[in-house]
Amino acid sequence: MFKFDETEADKLAQRYGTPLYVYRENVIRESCRNLKNAFSDIKTRIYYAVKANSNPWILNILKEEGVWADVVSPGEIYLALHAGFPAEKLLFTQNSVSDEQMKYALDSKVRINVESLSQLKRLGLLAPGTDISIRFNIYIGAGHHSHVITGGPMSKFGIDWESTDQVKEIAAEGNLKVKGIHCHIGSGILDAEMFVRAVKNLLITAKKIPDLEVIDFGGGIGIPYRPGEKPLVLKELGRKLSDEYMSFCKDYGKKPELAVEPGRYLVAESGSLLIRVTSIKESRKYTFIGTDTGFNHLIRPAFYGSYHRIEPAVIREGGKTAAVITGNLCESGDVFTRTEDGIEPRKFTPIEEGDLLIIRNTGAYGFSMASHYNSFPLPAEILVKGNESRLIRKRETYDQLLNNIPDF
Ligand code: LLP
Repeated sequence: MFKFDETEADKLAQRYGTPLYVYRENVIRESCRNLKNAFSDIKTRIYYAVKANSNPWILNILKEEGVWADVVSPGEIYLALHAGFPAEKLLFTQNSVSDEQMKYALDSKVRINVESLSQLKRLGLLAPGTDISIRFNIYIGAGHHSHVITGGPMSKFGIDWESTDQVKEIAAEGNLKVKGIHCHIGSGILDAEMFVRAVKNLLITAKKIPDLEVIDFGGGIGIPYRPGEKPLVLKELGRKLSDEYMSFCKDYGKKPELAVEPGRYLVAESGSLLIRVTSIKESRKYTFIGTDTGFNHLIRPAFYGSYHRIEPAVIREGGKTAAVITGNLCESGDVFTRTEDGIEPRKFTPIEEGDLLIIRNTGAYGFSMASHYNSFPLPAEILVKGNESRLIRKRETYDQLLNNIPDF
């Protein structure tokens, strides 16, 4: 029987029901430490990208590990403050931000990472004298899917790095002090060279702006999802960046902190979605193994064609045969074993109705992208450590589907 730390999957399913998001606390803490070690040569600030998983219990673990937080909406500011992050450890990087949303950040004493010239002008009128950071588009983009590439001419994010002079002028007019610069090239990147190129460009921009306290090269560190995929060697990345950074500091005459903003790297591998097989059917082409969840609870396969390892909790005797694992929603795209182009059957040991399956590496962009589509309540979330488990989000009830609906 598959175990989460020391606890068997069926015990958790019995106690909490399925579908169930299960997070292993020690894995989160280990990822934090690995990242810190990789950058131990340079003073590095780690901002956790809250969007990857915003459960306050998870945020609390990351806070305890000493990381800061990247927040992209007033809601994420609210949750991070609720989890106990001090306001000065948050960086607010929303796209297409309104004055009301900036006021929310300002009232919360959270630093704003400005990502358009319009926003810069408006912030100068709203809050002259404020310390800010600037998000640049440094014209390098990368990522596991076109939806998540955030640099280059097609990207809606950031201020063109060739507009640095304009940024300085507008900031000066509004008496805004640029203390940090930032870029984020994309997500799910396993090639260290892309980060080195990004940092090089960001440092070119940094040279034009005096008195920076922090240079933030964003998130995007990938994890291996497919068997055989190689992880990014963080130590090597740390070493390469440290060389770039040291030579920059010599010219710059000061040593701003370096910052990195990972979401996926810190939480993806800690999480699994524990689900139950409800119904198996044969079509002329495939064996469809239907489960009690769908892309409402884990959208990555349907939305990006992303691969997630799926393991039966019990390995039954018998050879492996090809099957398609599906969700229970009313759309044919609701298939977990797929690519962007459609269904991709995988080989499994024998699976029967009632069996438990574990969808791995779902700690990032799993629950945080879940929806109420088809009006299934959202799943519960638990945190596991050793032989202990704790409910960190209750399973929704049907009553809650009526939340915010006035009576008629
Ligand atoms: N910083 C900024 C400004 C970001 O926009 C993001 C992610 C991150 C940091 C963290 O990126 P990470 O280290 O997690 O790659 N839903 C997609 C990923 C979207 C990422 C959006 N921005 C997925 O499931 O693959």
